[in-house]
Amino acid sequence: MSENDRLIIALSKGRIFKETLPLLNHAGIELVDDPDASRKLILDTNHADVKVLILRATDVPTYVQYGAADVGVAGKDVLMEHGGEGLYEPVDLKIARCKLMTAGRQGEQDVRPAQRLRVATKFVNSTRRFYASRGEQVEIIKLYGSMELAPLVGLADRIVDVVDTGNTLRANGLEPFEHIADISSRLIVNKAAMKMKHARVKALIDQISEAVG
Ligand code: ATP
Ligand code: PRP
Repeated sequence: MSENDRLIIALSKGRIFKETLPLLNHAGIELVDDPDASRKLILDTNHADVKVLILRATDVPTYVQYGAADVGVAGKDVLMEHGGEGLYEPVDLKIARCKLMTAGRQGEQDVRPAQRLRVATKFVNSTRRFYASRGEQVEIIKLYGSMELAPLVGLADRIVDVVDTGNTLRANGLEPFEHIADISSRLIVNKAAMKMKHARVKALIDQISEAVG
């Protein structure tokens, strides 16, 4: 089998994985391995020439950009942060929907510190762009998770994170302030694979688009 006959799909575990499986099934791709029962990171499918890689969500665009995977599924939040170099984004899968928002302690939307606003987030680039677009220079503190804690212990005045039900914010005495972007997951395709494996990739795009409706 030549390299060009293979199709490598990059997914992350968790909500994207669960919600992408039915779309792949619609495209005739069924997993043979169960990722919850296995420690394997390259999963077999019912097609010998189609494999699924299991990655951290934030690493999916990187694997697709460099062609280590031909296609993948990534949240728009992650894509905005990555920048989208080397990728096409042909299908909005309308799964894992949420909003990228600023948030802070309840009732403090208009409270401004004497110094620059400190904003804790894992979305450093999107946060810088958002505040810059409003002509505001802020100090950004990079975190890797549990952003909601930062305003509670005085690490930051604001956070930028994804919000769905708002339950996590509420449970921590926070509230959403400004809307930055609507988020959903996208099918992404390596630019070279789109040319070199066009028939194969195009068929997958068409079948997945049909499943999304
Ligand atoms: P990592 O494991 O790399 O830190 P993660 O924990 O953000 O990533 P998931 O929680 O699986 O990974 O989220 C994957 C994607 O799902 C996110 O990039 C975002 O687009 C979306 N998402 C995150 N949280 C929610 C939520 N509460 N409701 C709906 N969609 C969400
Ligand atoms: C995400 C995000 C928020 C929460 C928002 O966390 O980081 O904490 O969802 O959703 P809500 O508005 O419905 O409460 P997730 O559930 O993915 O946990 P994790 O990031 O720790 O994996």
